[in-house]
Amino acid sequence: MNYSTSQKAIQRRIARHVIHRLHTFFAVVQPGFEETASKELKLLGIQGCTVTKGGVAFRGTLEHCYAANYYSRVATRILMRLCHFRAYHFNEIYRTLKEFPWELYIQGQRIDVEVSVHNSKLHHTERIGQEVIKAIEKRLSMFGIPCNTAGEVQKVFVRFNHDECMVSLDSSGEPLYKRGYKQHISEAPLRETIAAALLYECNVYDYDTIIDPMCGSGTFPIEAWCILHGVPSGANRTFAFMHWPSFRKHIFTGSIRKEPGGNRDITIIAGDSNPDMVAITQQNSMKAGAQLHTYTGDYLKEKMQAVRGKVLCAVNPPYGKRIHADDTIQLYKRLANIYKAWYPEWSFCVLIPSRIKEVFTIPADREIHFSHGGLPVSALIVYGRR
Ligand SMILES: C[S@@+](CC[C@H](N)C(=O)[O-])C[C@H]1O[C@@H](n2cnc3c(N)ncnc32)[C@H](O)[C@@H]1O
Repeated sequence: MNYSTSQKAIQRRIARHVIHRLHTFFAVVQPGFEETASKELKLLGIQGCTVTKGGVAFRGTLEHCYAANYYSRVATRILMRLCHFRAYHFNEIYRTLKEFPWELYIQGQRIDVEVSVHNSKLHHTERIGQEVIKAIEKRLSMFGIPCNTAGEVQKVFVRFNHDECMVSLDSSGEPLYKRGYKQHISEAPLRETIAAALLYECNVYDYDTIIDPMCGSGTFPIEAWCILHGVPSGANRTFAFMHWPSFRKHIFTGSIRKEPGGNRDITIIAGDSNPDMVAITQQNSMKAGAQLHTYTGDYLKEKMQAVRGKVLCAVNPPYGKRIHADDTIQLYKRLANIYKAWYPEWSFCVLIPSRIKEVFTIPADREIHFSHGGLPVSALIVYGRR
């Protein structure tokens, strides 16, 4: 080995090879929302975004990685690409990865390797993971660095595709849809990342009132409030990169600036027929610092009065395996009739299981298809007439 094992020497190499260098990152995104994520990353000043199925690749510094984690409302996690190589035998994984300078990326954390394999000779994911861990431990031990201690978890993602092995370091930790405000959840909560992506696709900045009349734990209204009031998605949480040996607090602080958005005069309404759900939304919104108008009421029976200005209604009705198919179909038929009869000027975004989307009889201006809780779901977006 040619490298000095002193921490001072390692820190100098971290500065040269990690802090003051461009890296390739990959924003993991719920399939269906890659373009939305790419647009959002560009607005954060991140250049050279390449959209692929399941995510967006981009080149940037650690500051870009910090900003993507802290601000992106659509990405699920941000990975830092470390290396890639071909391997047909298990010992090739060990031999290659023990030469990789892990001491610049991991020090003192508990390592958790997540392996996925597609069309490759090596397909035993557990054995691949063991080889990776063995290589990292060997390399770190050469520098006297402890790992797999009781410390913070650092995830390493290993993906084999046609015998090409891609190794990435997770910079996020908990998935980014865990914003830190959802203390209580409904039975079928929407992921914050999906809610935010749909709000962006509905041009969330264009309305005077946003309403979710079946709000459950309040994901749509809270995300809307945070977007419109410039509250960063990561304001209430920590990230895996904060435990990297390259982490410098002042660089992180410098990379987070105020989001555009400001304090708009907007009314955000959250209602549900179940008072317990309304109470949960109130608790979650308090934690998020979101000021919502909440009410208990049956959306299918009572016409809403005096809703101000241009309105967006985003709704995630109850559906799924446990809800009887006939009931679900009746609910969507009723919803379509309500929009036609009571709210013909509103814009709306309705989530519906894809297999029954024809029962919603209003033609959609846009359809976005994605998977939610293992079920193919469509978001039908209709832009209002005013
Ligand atoms: C799938 S959950 C919504 C989940 C929510 N998007 C979240 O992220 O937590 C559907 C909600 O609709 C409510 N609901 C069902 N029928 C309703 C009705 N007729 N009027 C108002 N709310 C209703 C249920 O109480 C439930 O909380």
